[in-house]
Amino acid sequence: MAKYVVALDQGTTSTRCMIFNHGGEIVAHHQIEHEQLYPQAGWVEHDAMEIWKRTKDVIHAAMEKGGLVAADIAAVGITNQRETTLVWDRKTGQPYGNAIVWQDTRTDKICHQLAENGGQDRFRAKTGLPLATYFSGPKLKWMLDNVPGLRAAAERGDALFGNMDTWIIWKLTGGPGPQAAHVTDVTNASRTLLMNLETLDWDDEILQELGIERSLLPEIRPSSDPDFYGMTRADGPFGGEIPVCGDLGDQQAATVGQTCFEVGEAKNTYGTGCFLLLNTGHEIVQSQHGLVTTLCYQFGKEKPVYALEGSIAITGALVQWLRDRMRLINTAADVENLAKMVDDNGGMYFVPAFSGLFAPYWRSEARGLVIGMTRFITRGHFARAALEATAYQTREVVDAMAADSGVTLKSLKVDGGMTANELLMQIQADVLGVPVIRPRVSESTALGAAYAAGLAVGYWKNTGDLKKNWGIDKTWQPSEDETLRTKNYRMWKKAVTRTFDWLE
Ligand code: G3P
Repeated sequence: MAKYVVALDQGTTSTRCMIFNHGGEIVAHHQIEHEQLYPQAGWVEHDAMEIWKRTKDVIHAAMEKGGLVAADIAAVGITNQRETTLVWDRKTGQPYGNAIVWQDTRTDKICHQLAENGGQDRFRAKTGLPLATYFSGPKLKWMLDNVPGLRAAAERGDALFGNMDTWIIWKLTGGPGPQAAHVTDVTNASRTLLMNLETLDWDDEILQELGIERSLLPEIRPSSDPDFYGMTRADGPFGGEIPVCGDLGDQQAATVGQTCFEVGEAKNTYGTGCFLLLNTGHEIVQSQHGLVTTLCYQFGKEKPVYALEGSIAITGALVQWLRDRMRLINTAADVENLAKMVDDNGGMYFVPAFSGLFAPYWRSEARGLVIGMTRFITRGHFARAALEATAYQTREVVDAMAADSGVTLKSLKVDGGMTANELLMQIQADVLGVPVIRPRVSESTALGAAYAAGLAVGYWKNTGDLKKNWGIDKTWQPSEDETLRTKNYRMWKKAVTRTFDWLE
C-alpha cells in the first residue's frame, strides 16, 4: 500500500493540495489564491480555467516539496467550495463563462419568482433547503436563461454542469476525453436544490420547474467510493494513475475530518464564511428555525448520514474585505493585533450582510451595516467589531441548532483558518458561554477529504481508525459575565434587524 493520501481543497479564495500520512498528519502542502471577480454589485465570479491551473500548480508544488511520485499516493480525495456553479462544453472542456460563486446574489429575482407559487420553503420538504440565491439550481437556471447558446447546447447534450468538485474530478480523470468522469457526491448534490434527500437522485419535478435538462447533471455517487470515480491520468499533474475516490463539500469534509460520526456531534468551520454542522444520523431532521438539512456523508454502500447546518456567508471574508478593499490591515492576521488595541467594541456593531443574510434569516435583500459609531471609535474598534460579527453570527446558528434539535451544546469544536486568531476564539467562548475546542489538525476540511478517499481504498479501515487521530490542541473557556453577554447579544440582534429589507 502506498504511503500517503492526497486531498485537494478547492476553496472560495484558494486551492490547496495537502498530503497526509496514516496518523492524519500533514506531510507536505501547497496553497495558491485565485482571483475574485466582482463584475457588478452583488455578483461574484471565478475563472474555472484559472482554478484548474492553480490545482495543477499546487499538486506539482506539494508533490515536489514532499519528494513524492504518483506511486507514493494511495488515493486522491476532493473537497470544494459548495454551490459555486459552472457549465462547460463536454467536447472542448471550455466553460460557458465564469463560475457563479455561492455568495453571488444575481438570482434573487428568480428565487422570488419561484417562491410566488408555494413560498420560500416550497422545495424544503424534498431538498431540506429554502429558495435562496446561495444554492446552485437557481444559478444554473440563470445561466441557461442568460448565456447565449447555452440552452441549445444543453438540449443537444453538449453542456455539462458541475460544482467545483465535478469540474476538478472531470479534469483529473481526463476531460475532455472518453475516460472523464462526470460525477458528484451526495453532499455536493444536496446543495443544488435539485436533489431529493430521500432518493439521493435529481428530482424530476424540480428540474421541470427550473427548466433544467437531466443530461446536464453529473451522476451522484457516495462521498467515499470503493468503485472509484475514475483514475488520475499518467499525462496529468500527478504523472501517474491514482484512484480518485473521495468527494465531499468542504463543510461536510470538515465534519468528517473532526470525526463527528456520532449523532449530536457538531463542528464549526471558520473560513470565508462559517458553517456549523450537527450530525443527525440516518434521520432527515427538517429545521423549524432557519437552518438547512443536508447530507453529511455517505461511505460506500452504507446508509447516508444527514446533518443540520447553520450557514453564515461572511466571516473571514469580512477580514479579507478590511484588508483588500478598505486597506485597514496589510495581512489577515493583522486584524488580531489591531483588535487587541481596544478593550471592547466601544458600542459599535458591524453586520456583514454583504450577500444578504443566510441562516437563520435567509434574507437576500439585507445589506451590511455599521451602527453605534461615535467619535470615540478607532480602527481598533472596527477590527474588534469584525471579529465579534463572526462570533455573534455563530451564536445565532448555535441557538437555532439548540431550538431545532433540543440539544444544548456543551462545547464547540472549531477548525479552519480563522481559528489561528486566538482573540477571536476567546471572544467566541465568551459570546457562547461554552468552551471552544481546537483540534491538533485545524485543517479538518482537507483531512476529511483524505479520510473519505483513504477509506475507499482501505488505507484506513474504518471510522474507529480515524477517531484515534483526533486530539485537542487548545481549549478556550468563557470568561465573560452573563449579564454583559446577554446585553451585548441583544444589541447585536437589534443591529441585525436594521439590515433587513434594505433593497426592498
Ligand atoms: O457553502 C460555501 C462553502 O462551502 C464555502 O466554504 O471554506 O470556501 O468558505 P469556504
